[in-house]
Amino acid sequence: MLLHIPEVLSKDALARVRASIEAGEWVDGNVTSGPQAALAKRNMQLNEESPARKQAADIILQALERMPLFIAAALPHTVFPPLFNRYEGGQLFANHVDNAVRRNRAGDLKIRTDLSATLFLSEPDAYEGGELVVEDTYGGHSVKLPAGDMVLYPSSSLHHVRPVTQGARIASFFWIQSMVRDDAKRALLFDMDMSVQRLAQEVGLDHPSLVSMTGVYHNLLRMWAEM
Ligand code: NI
Repeated sequence: MLLHIPEVLSKDALARVRASIEAGEWVDGNVTSGPQAALAKRNMQLNEESPARKQAADIILQALERMPLFIAAALPHTVFPPLFNRYEGGQLFANHVDNAVRRNRAGDLKIRTDLSATLFLSEPDAYEGGELVVEDTYGGHSVKLPAGDMVLYPSSSLHHVRPVTQGARIASFFWIQSMVRDDAKRALLFDMDMSVQRLAQEVGLDHPSLVSMTGVYHNLLRMWAEM
């Protein structure tokens, strides 16, 4: 499932994230890459261990906690602390699948990557190119969102970032280990959750059939959730 989550960051939060990372230390994006990714990736990355990275990541993590759409779609178990990248002057990231397991540099966190997230921090008119293209069975989906908006997609999918030919594309990227590792099961739960919420607007959350359907949702989640 490919999902657009609008306005994850308010204008104020976006400005604070931008101020923090722009003053930070940017390094070659390949410092953390394996040999295959190093061939595919051309970008800059904010030093993972810098205070600027941590400060900006905390703003994003706090915003995510207040996003019901993110919680419903990702069913997060662990969110990897957000990282930041910048593409300019023709830089790109060729087609790849993200690593299945991600460790932080400090070595005290290890997650299975079920979902990948890109949170756009530059307005679309600030750069040319730079679309995130995610492939699924329907072909490639090109994503370029307003600053503050985020896309969630399965970490199992092939994806690439098209060359940025003008301006600079700054984004945050991170991964989520979900309580429900299977994308199809997670998508079913999300559809059901959204349907229950829409129906609740019409008939009230205490309608006996909705109480029953909400129970089915939780019983499926209980069956599939891993802690
Ligand atoms: Ni990737």
